[in-house]
Amino acid sequence: MSERRPLLAMQQVTQAYSLPRTALFSPPGSFTVLDSIDFDVCAGEAVGLVGESGAGKTTLTRILTGMERPQSGHVLFDGTDIWSADQAQRASFRRAVQMVLQNPRSSLDPRMRVGTALLEPMRSLRIEGDHVKRLHEVLDQVGLDRSALERFPHEFSGGQLQRIAIARALMPNPRVLVADEPVSALDVSIQAQVLNLLKDLVRDLNLGLVFIAHDLSVVAYTTSRVSVIASGRIVEVGQPVELFTRPTAPQTKNLVDAVLTVESGLSGTAL
Ligand SMILES: Nc1ncnc2c1ncn2[C@@H]1O[C@H](COP(=O)(O)OP(=O)(O)OP(=O)(O)O)[C@@H](O)[C@H]1O
Ligand SMILES: [Mg+2]
Repeated sequence: MSERRPLLAMQQVTQAYSLPRTALFSPPGSFTVLDSIDFDVCAGEAVGLVGESGAGKTTLTRILTGMERPQSGHVLFDGTDIWSADQAQRASFRRAVQMVLQNPRSSLDPRMRVGTALLEPMRSLRIEGDHVKRLHEVLDQVGLDRSALERFPHEFSGGQLQRIAIARALMPNPRVLVADEPVSALDVSIQAQVLNLLKDLVRDLNLGLVFIAHDLSVVAYTTSRVSVIASGRIVEVGQPVELFTRPTAPQTKNLVDAVLTVESGLSGTAL
């Protein structure tokens, strides 16, 4: 195997939250959400993070995107620690790493036209240039018509709205997309379209994609390498097929069993 050159990486990240004191003179407790996590993504690569509710997935994305500072460990972008980077490096990091959230209905402002919403990151990240040209490029990339710009979020279906949310994340021309449960609020019938779009973007734009979900089948469909997280620790890393056929960690086995139960229940409608 050739040497991996991660674009975005976390090394030995640990994060704990303090708990309220149980009695006046008892020492404050703490709760470890992430414990010594190593995780990374290269350009043109889709990696997955899968785990049960409460495992620490969203906390990991908040740290990976620089929204939260870890108690210990490092987050490196292009080899530079984002928390000791200079201002120019921080600015390029903020443009280069963008997020797609679970529910586009709550992540898009209902009173804002789609065109205005798409320009929002350009304004907040102070990106200059031909914004109209960029809007058109990005709409083409996500497969939406230009007429979308004048419309409001309520005029779109859930799948189209998630395309709009992806378009907004693409506006600053990022190098990594971090998608936290991007299809779990969508109907099963349209989930595959959004997953295929993400896969195409990885290939066509040489993007790094971090894809997070609690459903192993959805992660396996979209990514080439999957980390399984349980109670704040990475318990297994492997290729999707390996994890399905030869899961070693008990938590991975549980995720495989959950998929098989759901799929036999849906009898053919799942991915
Ligand atoms: N700010 C905080 N203060 C205290 N505890 C927190 C905080 N944020 C998260 N937690 C706890 O950390 C744990 C992990 O939460 P996190 O949201 O990262 O899990 P998750 O894997 O994303 O779950 P889900 O699948 O439900 O989205 C949970 O037990 C949560 O209650
Ligand atoms: Mg979460």
